[in-house]
Formats: sequence, structure tokens, C-alpha cells
Amino acid sequence: MKVLLLGKNGQVGWELQRSLAPLGELVALDRHSTLTDGGCGDLNDLDGLRDTVRRLRPGVIVNAAAHTAVDKAESEPDLARTLNARAPGALAEAANGVGALLVHYSTDYVFDGGGHTPWTEDATTGPLSVYGQTKLEGERLIAAAGARHLIFRTSWVYAARGGNFARTMLRLAQERERLAVIDDQVGAPTGAELIADVTAHAIRQTLSDEACCGTYHLAAAGETSWNGYARFVLETARALKPELLIKAQEVATVPTSAYPTPARRPLNSRLDTSYLRSTFGLNLPDWQHGVRRMLAEIL
Ligand SMILES: NC(=O)c1ccc[n+]([C@@H]2O[C@H](COP(=O)([O-])OP(=O)(O)OC[C@H]3O[C@@H](n4cnc5c(N)ncnc54)[C@H](OP(=O)(O)O)[C@@H]3O)[C@@H](O)[C@H]2O)c1
Repeated sequence: MKVLLLGKNGQVGWELQRSLAPLGELVALDRHSTLTDGGCGDLNDLDGLRDTVRRLRPGVIVNAAAHTAVDKAESEPDLARTLNARAPGALAEAANGVGALLVHYSTDYVFDGGGHTPWTEDATTGPLSVYGQTKLEGERLIAAAGARHLIFRTSWVYAARGGNFARTMLRLAQERERLAVIDDQVGAPTGAELIADVTAHAIRQTLSDEACCGTYHLAAAGETSWNGYARFVLETARALKPELLIKAQEVATVPTSAYPTPARRPLNSRLDTSYLRSTFGLNLPDWQHGVRRMLAEIL
């Protein structure tokens, strides 16, 4: 069986290259890939994507590519819509044509962030931003295309590779005596490694039981604010590497309004993962588990 992966160099895409490899012959593409590399990987080229699926005839298509620059999306909604909605829609139609299972990722940003309880999969959506709106449109176009699919809504994704929130906090904490980090957005930092491992497991089970198709919430267990996340990063860094010169003695709490951004973000990003855990018989570790591992890797 061929497995087609799009967005191979993103946080999740990079980890999927590892976790999907045992499932079959992996064709991993990025936005610069052309037919001579095995297929077109540019989400902006809908005909190229359709053509790639028709030629490769994969058993599984995993789309880890997206327009993820949440603030930038506010000023380029057409591009965000093409990458986050039209392209997944085109992939779903093409998947249907060759009988492939389509795996796609969505986000807690499809919700309006109200209340304090975790969102279930069937909770009413209400995106606050172009990013959230276009990701929701992508989910709907996939469902409308009628292909077998898995959609994982995840949140606060980090990876050891590339820039991330923890690295930024570590750098600032070495430069400044005091940090100020928002404490009124709550969610669960979720490692790209965990997302990729759960994806591979879910694909295997769904290939033998179509009833597993559907939309799932996938996030690490527990919850924190960005402020709690920053504190945990600094405490853990101090414990793992005592010689690190962390100047910051205080991580002050500030509201979201202290850092105005073009895109509005949901305050409540808690995702209820019980449907995923029960369907696939999985345990999702606490968010601290993955963040500790990531810090041990980058320090
Ligand atoms: N990051 C989060 O906090 C978060 C939270 C919830 C849900 N998600 C969802 O999870 C999935 C994976 O996110 P991630 O964190 O791994 O994102 P990421 O690290 O930003 O990766 C996105 C990838 O998409 C690629 N891409 C951008 N434009 C493209 C195009 N025109 N054609 C092909 N590829 C293109 C990027 O390539 P370049 O590197 O070349 O730009 C990048 O490799 C996405 O669906 C995202 O919406 C993410």
C-alpha cells in the first residue's frame, strides 16, 4: 500500500515521516515537490494535487500541510481558504475517486472559546479568525466529498524541531529579569510526536474497521494557560540544566488584551478527547510528559 504524505517538513509532517513509514511505501511531499519528485505537494495547485492522487493511487493520504500563520491569515484570506479549505476538499474528492482514506488535521480554533468545559466533537462551532473559519470550511468540504476520512482537531502544537513557544520563553528568560505571559487562554500543549503516533495507530485500525472514520479531538491530557506552560518550561529547564543562566525570576500573569494581535484567539481551547480514547483504545499522556521530553531534547 502507498501512503501519500503532504506537508512533510511541518511540525506534524516531520514526525509523520517516522510514524507512517511502517504502514507502507511512503511518498512524502512538501510544497516544492513536483511530479518528478513523485507528485505535486503544493496545496495551492489543486489540479496538481488531483493529478498526483490519480497517478499514485495511494491507499492513505495524510495532509499535514496548512496555512498555519494565524495572524497573517487575517490579511490573506483567499490564500488561507485555498490551503485550508479548497485543497483538503480537492484531496477528499480525489481520495474518493481512488478509494483512499484521507487523514486531515483541524484545530480548536473552530470554536469561539466560550465557557470553561472541554469541547466535544459535536459542540457548536464559532470560529473567531480567518484561520479558524477556513479550517472549519476544510472539515466541511472533506465531509461533503464523501471520502472515508479521519479528521483530528488538535491544539497548541509544539515540536523539538524549529522554533516553538518553549524556545522563545527560554531565550527571553535568559535576557530579561521578568516575563509577562497571558493566563486567560487555557488548553493543552500537544507534541507533534504524539499526534503522529496516534495518527498511525488510528489509520491502522480504520483500515480494518471503517466505522472508525470521523472527526476526533486529539490533545495531550490535562490543561494549562500559556503562563502555566511558560512556568513549567522554566522550572523544568532549571532542573534539567542547572548551569543555564535563567535571569527571569518572575513570570507575571497578564490578560490576552495585553498583547493585541490581528487574529482573535479562543480563551477556552480545552478539547474533550474521550471519543478518540474510547474508539481507538488509547491513553493520552499529560501535556507535561511531552514538553519535558522536548526540553530534554533541545537543551
Ligand atoms: N501549530 C498549531 O499549534 C496547531 C494547532 C491546532 C491545529 N493545527 C493543525 O495541525 C496541522 C499541522 O500543523 P503544524 O503545527 O505541523 O504546522 P506547521 O509546522 O506550520 O506546518 C505546516 C506545513 O504546511 C506547509 N505549507 C504551507 N503552505 C503550503 C503549500 N502551499 N503547499 C504545501 N505545503 C504548504 C508548510 O511548509 P513551509 O514550511 O514550506 O511553509 C509547513 O511545512 C495543520 O493542519 C494545522 O492547522 C496546528
